[in-house]
Amino acid sequence: MNLFPLTDECHHYSHVSEVPWDIQKYWHQRNSIFSCYNKGIRMTDDAWFGVTPEPVAKKVAEDLAAFADPSKTIVIDIFGGVGGNSIAFALSGRWAQVITIEKDPSVIACAQHNAALYGVRDQITWVNDDCFSYLSSNTWIDPSKTVIFGSPPWGGPGYTSDKIFSLNTMQPYSAKQIHDACRGMDSALYLPRTSDLRQIARLAPKGKKVEVVQYCMEGASKAMVAYIPASPVATS
Ligand SMILES: C[S@@+](CC[C@H](N)C(=O)[O-])C[C@H]1O[C@@H](n2cnc3c(N)ncnc32)[C@H](O)[C@@H]1O
Repeated sequence: MNLFPLTDECHHYSHVSEVPWDIQKYWHQRNSIFSCYNKGIRMTDDAWFGVTPEPVAKKVAEDLAAFADPSKTIVIDIFGGVGGNSIAFALSGRWAQVITIEKDPSVIACAQHNAALYGVRDQITWVNDDCFSYLSSNTWIDPSKTVIFGSPPWGGPGYTSDKIFSLNTMQPYSAKQIHDACRGMDSALYLPRTSDLRQIARLAPKGKKVEVVQYCMEGASKAMVAYIPASPVATS
């Protein structure tokens, strides 16, 4: 297994006085984000804005297990981050293989470290790469056995100011770009709670439905997940 070394960007903040002002709000929720936080969870400063809180990650893992046909045994988390979702997938015991892709070496080092705190580091295959090149270059990926999970960047905290969030202009990747990269595999996309449902509906293959679930904590939605069946891949 590739072990990625922790870097100066992989912080564990134990007192508010150490925490940059713009992430203090998230740090106060640290034990809801990772119940193991006090064991030494590490995160980069940017990761606080995008990590999936543990109760939500656990529920998404349950729902993904139900969405996926039992013939699907591999889940690829294409935007692994500091491990929120990948750890929950590994803990669920549902998958023969959990593959986590993350392009930032400091972030994947945090994710590996955090997975070790949850006892699942060795159950995950860690890939430090760009997910789009990984998906397009790995011809061994068997769509009949694989489900893709993606919690992409949403373009920073400013997404909350949009009444309806456009998935066409989501930065740096549109939902369509991500969906196209999933190449005929079932996929689940973790998206802003106000995402445009009409745009999501357009991702449905002909004759099939997309299921959308809102995930709430303490009465407020944190995000939605669109569960999208595979589209037939065009052959030339
Ligand atoms: C919203 S965060 C994911 C959070 C993750 N679900 C968690 O709970 O920690 C998105 C992550 O995708 C990574 N990322 C962005 N573009 C990527 C790409 N093309 N390939 C792989 N990772 C990418 C970012 O570095 C960031 O860590």
